[in-house]
Amino acid sequence: MAFSVQLMPFSSTAPPRCPALRRRRPPPSHRRNQTGIVCTAERRELFNRIALVYDNLNDLLSLGQHRIWKKMCVSWSGVKKGDIVLDMCCGSGDLAFLLSQKVGPNGKVSALDFSRNQLFIASTRQDLFWKACYENIKWIEGDALNLPFEDGYFNAITVGYGLRNLIDRRKALHEIFRVLKPGSKVSILDFNKSTSSLTTLCQGWALDNVVVPAANVYGLSEEYKYLKSSIAEFLTGGELEKLAREVGFSDARHYEVAAGLMGNLVATR
Ligand SMILES: C[S@@+](CC[C@H](N)C(=O)[O-])C[C@H]1O[C@@H](n2cnc3c(N)ncnc32)[C@H](O)[C@@H]1O
Repeated sequence: MAFSVQLMPFSSTAPPRCPALRRRRPPPSHRRNQTGIVCTAERRELFNRIALVYDNLNDLLSLGQHRIWKKMCVSWSGVKKGDIVLDMCCGSGDLAFLLSQKVGPNGKVSALDFSRNQLFIASTRQDLFWKACYENIKWIEGDALNLPFEDGYFNAITVGYGLRNLIDRRKALHEIFRVLKPGSKVSILDFNKSTSSLTTLCQGWALDNVVVPAANVYGLSEEYKYLKSSIAEFLTGGELEKLAREVGFSDARHYEVAAGLMGNLVATR
C-alpha cells in the first residue's frame, strides 16, 4: 500500500518564532525549558528529527519493556471488537497497531500526529509488517489540541507519551472529552512524575547516564535532553487525576507502572 496520510487543516507553515516568546511573561506551559523547546512548531520539528531512530531507541532504552506498557495502556482503554477508536499523538504507530488488532476488521482506528516523518514511518511499518486488520487504520496529520472529529465519536482513546509533550494539557483533555462517547475511556501512558524523591533520582540518573548518551550515538543528545525537563514540567499522578476531573471526566485513576518510572491515567467520560 502506498504511503497515504490524510491531511487535516493543520498549519505546517508555522512562523519560525513562537508567538509565546514575544509575551513579557508567558504562562508556565510556554516558558522555555532547559533545552529551549517551547512552542508547537519547535516540538513538531523535534519529533520530525528523531523519527528515524525513535523506535530503535525505545526498544534499546526500555529493553523492550515499552511494548508491555503499551499493551497495558490499550487494555486499560476498554477497547472492544468493532469499536471506533483514536490513538492521539500516534508517532510511529505502536499503539495504533495494537488497537487495530483489538477492534478487528469491523472496527476503525484513527491515528493522529502532527509530525509527517513519524506518520511516514508508521505507514511504512504498516506495509512492512502487513496484517489484514491493519487496513482499518487511518493515519491523520493533525493537531491534538484541535481534534478534527465530531463530538462523541470514539469508543476509546489512547495516548502514549503524548500528553507530556503538549503545550496545553487542559485543552488536550477537553478535546479528548469532547470526542469520546459518554461512558468511554481514555488511557494515557507516559513517564511518571513521581512524588518519591528516590524514584525521581533514579529516573534522572537513567536519563542523564543512559538515555542521553545512547541518543548521542545517533547525534541526538540535545533532542533527548528535552525528556528530563519535560518530565519535570509534567503533572504528578494526583495532579493528572485532578485535571481530568476538572475537565469533566466522571472518574480518573492514575496507575504507576515499572516501579513508578512510568504512569498510566485512565479517565472515564
Ligand atoms: C514521544 S512520541 C510518542 C509516540 C507514540 N505514541 C509512542 O508511544 O511511541 C510523542 C508524539 O506526539 C506527537 N505530538 C506532539 N504534540 C502534538 C500535537 N500538538 N498534535 C499532534 N501530535 C503531537 C509527536 O509528533 C510525537 O510523534
